[in-house]
Amino acid sequence: MQTFKKNSLLKRYRLKSSLPKHVAIIMDGNGRWAKKRHLPRIAGHRAGAHSIRELVRLAGELGIEALTLYAFSTENWKRPPHEVRLLMQLLKQYLRNEVKELLENNVRLQTIGRRQDLPLEIQKELEKSIQATAHCTGLTLVLALSYSGRADLTNAVKKIAADVKKGKLNPASVTEKTITDALSTSHLPEVDFLIRTSGEMRISNFLLWELAYSEFFITKTLWPDFKTKDFILALKDFQGRQRRFGGVTNIIGSFTSWAR
Ligand code: FPP
Repeated sequence: MQTFKKNSLLKRYRLKSSLPKHVAIIMDGNGRWAKKRHLPRIAGHRAGAHSIRELVRLAGELGIEALTLYAFSTENWKRPPHEVRLLMQLLKQYLRNEVKELLENNVRLQTIGRRQDLPLEIQKELEKSIQATAHCTGLTLVLALSYSGRADLTNAVKKIAADVKKGKLNPASVTEKTITDALSTSHLPEVDFLIRTSGEMRISNFLLWELAYSEFFITKTLWPDFKTKDFILALKDFQGRQRRFGGVTNIIGSFTSWAR
């Protein structure tokens, strides 16, 4: 059934079967979306939550293995307390409303980041949703919450240093895999595609190690406007890229579309 759905979507959108395994998204531009409409910023975040809903379903149906969304960075705590409070409320609502939909779509929810920084009620709600969807075998949806790429790398270094101190690890045996395995994303496939909305050209402390060989797609579209057709366009762009991992191949054959 899943394969039938996937194949009919690939056909409908004229996609090749070589999709990214792990897509990461910096969802940016909610505030600007709201401002353009003379609405409060939270209206932009609320509209952004609708984009999440649509794309999670689509990514699952397409058979993408993992989708990591930058939902709240450690830097976001510096926003006005009122906005932080409303964002936390929105997250709670999302979790409450969405578990049914996640289950229906066989989506397993996980998080990365300092979950302990979040309000207790959010931590509890997250735990409930994570437990409820733990058995799902389709898309893994990872919400990066109170996340910082540097903090994750720092933790990895601490873990490795502790293993060295205990005599479990010889410093000379530390490899790139040792570091990859010590990160919070160690169980996920390699991030092969990063999408950033709203046109900003930076990675904002997101998945610093993991993005080493990712293809980047940056679009001027604001996150609340980023829907199925935009995701499909991004995937087509990905499929036009020649991934070389620092090596050499002849053809580029891409129609790279930076800052559409
Ligand atoms: C950036 O927009 C977006 C965020 C702070 C995080 C994304 C949050 C959502 C999509 C809300 C819902 C999330 C969940 C998980 C329910 P911005 O405020 O920085 O936009 P701006 O740069 O235009 O001001």
